[in-house]
Amino acid sequence: MRTGALAAALLLSAALQTGSASAVFAGSPMEGPGSWDWPCVVFNQERNMCFYCDQGYSPDASGVCRECQPGCMACRPEDGCCYRCGQSPDGKHPMFLNTTTHTCQRCLLNPVSSGCTECNTRGRCTQCADMDFETSKWTNFFLVNGRCIRGKATRDVCYEANANGDCVDCSFGYALLNGRCKICPQGGNGGLCKRCDPKTLRCMACWEGSLQDGRCVPCKSQGCLDCAKDPNVCTRCYYITPDNEDPENDWSFYRVGGVCKRCTAPNCRNCKSDGTCRECKYDYNVVGGKCKLAPPVEDHFPCTNWDAKTKRCKVGPELQACYEGWWLNKKANSCDLCEDGCMRCTSGGPSWRQPGGTSRCTRCQKPDLYSYPGYALINGRCLECADPYCMDCDGNIRRCKRCYDDNLPYKVNSEGRCVLP
Ligand SMILES: *[C@@H]1O[C@H](CO)[C@@H](O)[C@H](O)[C@H]1NC(C)=O
Repeated sequence: MRTGALAAALLLSAALQTGSASAVFAGSPMEGPGSWDWPCVVFNQERNMCFYCDQGYSPDASGVCRECQPGCMACRPEDGCCYRCGQSPDGKHPMFLNTTTHTCQRCLLNPVSSGCTECNTRGRCTQCADMDFETSKWTNFFLVNGRCIRGKATRDVCYEANANGDCVDCSFGYALLNGRCKICPQGGNGGLCKRCDPKTLRCMACWEGSLQDGRCVPCKSQGCLDCAKDPNVCTRCYYITPDNEDPENDWSFYRVGGVCKRCTAPNCRNCKSDGTCRECKYDYNVVGGKCKLAPPVEDHFPCTNWDAKTKRCKVGPELQACYEGWWLNKKANSCDLCEDGCMRCTSGGPSWRQPGGTSRCTRCQKPDLYSYPGYALINGRCLECADPYCMDCDGNIRRCKRCYDDNLPYKVNSEGRCVLP
């Protein structure tokens, strides 16, 4: 059995969320070579098998990750039959899957040097590179009719180009002129001018400023978001939004006449026009125009409906008393864990796995990428499907109804097993 701090932590959190501990998300696809169990991504401890391998590898029948042919991302390990392609090993061509031979073929008409990064079965390009990762610069490749063409503008300022390479849609702060994107005076990224006339370069709309004779005059008042008519008269002030909480750098403002004033009420994110608080930061409540620290919320996980008076977890009118995967043990006044793979079980434990155990499941865990195989609800128990690639075997663990097909395209055969076509 493999263990590790990461796996243990993930196992614990998975168990808390779902009540299941049999399928372990071991390692992560982001970690890549060098992580302790790479190239395995999903390891099942009970069966001692890897169910999901990193790109370029696939699990064989005994659950060992085997390397695919170069350029192939997911394959049938027994014969190398490929199901998903990446780039050619020399990095010169994107590749597509020939569904007849199950091999990867190079996109000869659309090599990487043409800007193409992905292509379809007809060899037509479906995606162009937008960044050059070596120089960190934006490219000028645009996808037009299955090819990447060089546009007159780069991708950071132009959204779309036509077959001649002319830009047809420039970003804010730029004006379209002769197929190029011309920066507006006071424009560009973060500039005051939003749109300008391509010929005269007079600004036609401003950000946080007032349009005066084709130029943007910044709003006078600090913290002003809108002063379109008169730079001296602010009509909308900036205040901290709930997801923007950096007390050192973020200030809120409130409007008094046409001027924005700093909201200095402690722990306030939005002041009223008299300077008292309208809305407090997280964890604070408005009390008489001031922010008072809210009493700490007791965490009664896995109870969803804690009654502070009686100090019991109670069955609510709408809420389940306990989180999914837990059941309300009224005798012990606690939420107890359901069986592996069970989302909802009736009170009455202990586990059916123990002698005399009576806990019954009424709903099994839904299958997801990192918890396969799926479960079948049989006589109040969640039993793992026999086939490791089976997602749904309800009624009979030996007869699969639906297979996992996100990584490798497993299909149910006439015997109810998951096989690769
Ligand atoms: C797939 O491979 C077969 C056999 O080599 C070939 O005849 C066919 O043209 C290929 N398909 C494509 C789309 O290239």
